[in-house]
Amino acid sequence: MSWAGDTQGYAVRPAGPDDLAAVTDCRRRWVAERTDASDPGFEDRMADWWVREADRRATWLAWAGEQPIGMAATVIFERMPAPGAPTARWGYVSQVWVDAAYRRRGVASTLMGAVIAWARREGLVRLVLNPSDESRPMYAALGFREASDLLRLDLSGR
Ligand SMILES: CC(C)(COP(=O)(O)OP(=O)(O)OC[C@H]1O[C@@H](n2cnc3c(N)ncnc32)[C@H](O)[C@@H]1OP(=O)(O)O)[C@@H](O)C(=O)NCCC(=O)NCCS
Repeated sequence: MSWAGDTQGYAVRPAGPDDLAAVTDCRRRWVAERTDASDPGFEDRMADWWVREADRRATWLAWAGEQPIGMAATVIFERMPAPGAPTARWGYVSQVWVDAAYRRRGVASTLMGAVIAWARREGLVRLVLNPSDESRPMYAALGFREASDLLRLDLSGR
């Protein structure tokens, strides 16, 4: 099954177990945009991670023919059950990336449209993400709002 975008020269589809190579390729190309992405152990780490994350992560890929040109993912968190209320689940959106050659054609918006539609079907109560500066206008257009009700404690590098 594919979502909107077909008429624009790309198609957005949920990633299945066999799409590890495409997701790995996208991840390496994303990192290569800003630094050296040669790392002989990267594929193995991706393969381990892909299996470990499978049960709680949903991923979508955008394809131009046979080439993966973008991705988006959501990790599901389930709250501790509480008496008298259904157990809520929410999603953290991550790994939203589109190949630079395909940007500003609606690919990321189409990927996020698929993520949001799926999250609604799944009954998630909210989606949360940590945007890059360049992605903020897109998320705002999709209805995301600034959140001032989160705190963070940075633990690395100290
Ligand atoms: C951010 C990113 C995912 C957007 O992908 P995209 O496919 O180009 O996005 P879309 O074409 O769907 O853009 C939709 C709208 O978002 C806004 N937008 C997208 N990129 C923008 C940019 N660089 N600057 C300002 N606004 C931008 C525009 O309003 C755009 O609509 P328009 O082209 O009609 O003006 C892509 O630039 C990217 O992969 N960047 C590097 C990785 C990254 O920052 N990921 C986000 C992590 S949270």
